[in-house]
Amino acid sequence: MRSVASALAAGIFDVVLERLLRHYRLSGEIVARCAALRPTDLVLDVGGGTGGVSARIAGAVRAVIVLEPNAALAERGRGRFVRSHFVRGDGTRLPVRDASVDVVLLVEVLHHILDADAVLRESARVLRPGGRILIEEVEFVGAMGSIARRLERWIFQGVWPRDREGLCADLVRFGMRPTVLEEEGFVILAASGRTR
Ligand SMILES: C[S@@+](CC[C@H](N)C(=O)[O-])C[C@H]1O[C@@H](n2cnc3c(N)ncnc32)[C@H](O)[C@@H]1O
Repeated sequence: MRSVASALAAGIFDVVLERLLRHYRLSGEIVARCAALRPTDLVLDVGGGTGGVSARIAGAVRAVIVLEPNAALAERGRGRFVRSHFVRGDGTRLPVRDASVDVVLLVEVLHHILDADAVLRESARVLRPGGRILIEEVEFVGAMGSIARRLERWIFQGVWPRDREGLCADLVRFGMRPTVLEEEGFVILAASGRTR
């Protein structure tokens, strides 16, 4: 019964993100545009859900590891697109070797995680020299933004959202060199502090 409910919830998750919000297509385009993907890249999509964003870029890279703590979401995504590996795990303790991936994606995920610092630290750890972290987060502006911010805080109990200045400062603390690539949204590409 519980697994039926989880599968149903995972189906609703996809319908909302894909059909209602068109999030997979829009964010897939942003990632393809901003992450400067190369055919040799190994991508780690942290909190990748059912892989809706990764599916849009998997054909352009060597492989994508979709790391997702929710079993039903990972199960729904598994096998749906080429060059993908779904792994259950937590962004605060990445089950990945040091300096082993080229691109870390954090798409609409940081504001769900209480210990976002740990995710940034872990992301920096697993990046190869010269690797990139791509962070996409909603930015809350204006009156509607203020309502959305309160709702998010209420739902996620005081977790994010942080603003982009705060996030950039955090990335610098973890040895990264952040650049804001898109004002609307917003998207930050954090290049690794180390060089090849
Ligand atoms: C809004 S969804 C975004 C999913 C996906 N990145 C996308 O853009 O389609 C937030 C995701 O963060 C995941 N998440 C929550 N806590 C997490 C954690 N501690 N580590 C990794 N992922 C987490 C959720 O399970 C969910 O899949």
